[in-house]
Amino acid sequence: MGSTKTKVDFEYILNRYLPEDREKEEKRKISRSIIDKINKRLNEMGIDADSILVGSQSRGTELKNSDLDIFIRFSNDYSKEEIEKIGLNMGFEIIPDGMAKYAEHPYVSGKVNGIKVDIVPCYRVEMNNRIISSVDRTPLHTIYMQKAMSEEMKREAILLKLFMKRQGIYGSELKTSGFSGYVCELIILEFRSFQKFMEYVSCLKGNLTIGKENLTRRFNSPVVIIDPVDEQRNAAAAVNETNLSILKVASKFYVTEPSEFFFTYDEDISSDFRISKDSYIAILRFQKPDVIEDILAPQLELTRKSITNFSISKGFHCINSFTLLNSEKMDVLIELEEGKLNPFEKRMGPPAENSNSVSFINKYSRSGLRRRGPYVESGRIYFDIYRDETEFRKILTKNMDRLNFGHNINQLKQKMEIIDQWEKVRKQEIYIEYMKHARPVLPP
Ligand code: UTP
Ligand code: MN
Repeated sequence: MGSTKTKVDFEYILNRYLPEDREKEEKRKISRSIIDKINKRLNEMGIDADSILVGSQSRGTELKNSDLDIFIRFSNDYSKEEIEKIGLNMGFEIIPDGMAKYAEHPYVSGKVNGIKVDIVPCYRVEMNNRIISSVDRTPLHTIYMQKAMSEEMKREAILLKLFMKRQGIYGSELKTSGFSGYVCELIILEFRSFQKFMEYVSCLKGNLTIGKENLTRRFNSPVVIIDPVDEQRNAAAAVNETNLSILKVASKFYVTEPSEFFFTYDEDISSDFRISKDSYIAILRFQKPDVIEDILAPQLELTRKSITNFSISKGFHCINSFTLLNSEKMDVLIELEEGKLNPFEKRMGPPAENSNSVSFINKYSRSGLRRRGPYVESGRIYFDIYRDETEFRKILTKNMDRLNFGHNINQLKQKMEIIDQWEKVRKQEIYIEYMKHARPVLPP
């Protein structure tokens, strides 16, 4: 067989996903004007702080329609409360119809001339100095990368971002647990080219680590990439094992047969919607309370685990479970081989010679739930007992009070909605996400 490698038209890819000059110019103008306004106000108010552009925009690694990240760096003389208050005020001065969002500090997010802008307060710190809050590193990332990356490498980083996006593993938010833009840039700094990294990761066994051994060995996440602006930190701490595995398998396919497919993340992929009429899927829906997502996400995960373990303990065969958290609702999906158990179960009693065998037999002989028994097998007493409930839906509802879903979600149990009619299930966002979830996206 001839083995001429397919070539990817990178020019086409970059043209398609890089912002056009007009967009770049527009964003430069807007960020310039926001920064000038903030700096002028800070000056008038005699506040020791300045604002700067950070994020991908400041480093030339942004994609089309990306956001503007603007930070206000305060001197350490200000308290956390002060910088938060001034930060929010400034934010709303610039974006009057913006929204306060909550991360480590509250910040303002909204649109200016149709462009998404975040205005975030932080402390001004030096490289490798003790940071106060985690966002304090962000301006350092900009300073570091602006020096370290060549134009060539920026292009390579953008290709890597697109590749990650296609696989659904781009972004470090809790719900994605993937590779952030900054991590993609650090990877390119190490490997110099997208191709070299693909070749490396396609053969990688075990964890992905970048950095000096004496620094990396202190971490044990699936991906360890030492942050050059703060060597105490693993910049890739967010990446979970599943996402590293997806990267490994997708890169194997890319290396053997590269194509544009691996970058065109906004193009539909054929999806496997055949499945699932032949299994049982229930979606448990909670209305989202007014609590920040970073607090709800671990509770939703606990809810998923509680429900999964509960279903198994009751004798259901669980195939998988999944969660979805968005601005209105929190969903848990559970897929079982069957939603209805057999009408009876085999109940094991004590060994025949044990003195408890008599009371076990008495208990079930007189019970109306007895189907058959007592009988003996391998020296033990058994009964077949009718179950009082066989449907997952009913069994779950009956036992809800005993399950722990976490502080906030526990309070929402009463109003929980269960969706398990197939015609309804298949139309839910969580079902569609579940079908796409945790699989490498490969060319047809
Ligand atoms: P963004 O999420 O906007 O990332 O965070 P980005 O690099 O600008 O990439 P895109 O193009 O918008 O997707 C802004 C900055 O915050 C820091 C990084 O310095 C990043 O550039 N950051 C963000 C982290 O250090 N870690 C994170 O997990 C997220
Ligand atoms: Mn950004």
